[in-house]
Amino acid sequence: MKVIIKETPAEGSIWAARYIAKRINEKAAVSDKPFVIGLCTGSTPIETYAELIRMVKAGEVSFKNVISFNMDEYVGLPEDHPESYHSFMHKYLFDHIDEPAENIHILNGNAPDPALECEKYEEAIVKAGGFDLFLGGVGEDGHIAFNEPFSSLSSRTRVVTLTRDTREVNSRFFGGDWKLVPAQAMSVGVATVLSSKEVVILAFGSKKARAIKDAVEGPISHYCTLSGMQNHPAGTVVCDEQAVGELKVSSYRYFKAVAEAEGE
Ligand code: GLP
Repeated sequence: MKVIIKETPAEGSIWAARYIAKRINEKAAVSDKPFVIGLCTGSTPIETYAELIRMVKAGEVSFKNVISFNMDEYVGLPEDHPESYHSFMHKYLFDHIDEPAENIHILNGNAPDPALECEKYEEAIVKAGGFDLFLGGVGEDGHIAFNEPFSSLSSRTRVVTLTRDTREVNSRFFGGDWKLVPAQAMSVGVATVLSSKEVVILAFGSKKARAIKDAVEGPISHYCTLSGMQNHPAGTVVCDEQAVGELKVSSYRYFKAVAEAEGE
């Protein structure tokens, strides 16, 4: 695992956007096959998406041959609800880039047969060729997508029950009332994320410091589902200084030295 430590969230976001664009362009230069990307929601990726939008408008990257799959969606929330992940993605990314509508995949949280919806999602990912890169965030408790603590590290796309903690954290988007946050979501599993050739996780702010410590220095454990990344051959966590505040000084120095040696 690599940990890229930038001074501020803005610098981390720009680093991540340019890294994603570089990967899309590298594949486009050698192959006609689409670039398959996993995408996340939450407040963390907004600046990364803004930089990607700028790059698309500047002609520095194109999403015309990109296929995306979002990692999760609330169950039972109307698609056009302002806090649905459908609305979020259109507002912060899809409405501003050149990705064809038919290439966009987001779980249908109102599907009549939720289990079938999740099964079909996994099939569609395989049909698209599997993920080249998965972009994720992390919850304060170390959850990746909506894989709450004690989710199996072998989990695949399914309906999950959200913890009270996660509903309280996300209540800021629902007028501060945790009971208005849907109790369930559909989420790709930990194994779905880890099936990607590459995983890039964004973590900014001191509220993520415990999750980053557990994921990077702790044991691989379903207690912190992001720790499953330790088994991934190409996992990168992009942090600001606040998010690495709980790492050991020796770990911090190690990651800074590696990044410096590699010109990051
Ligand atoms: C939700 C999402 C996660 C996201 C997390 C962190 O739980 N399902 O994918 O990583 O929120 O959100 P934020 O970036 O707002 O801190």
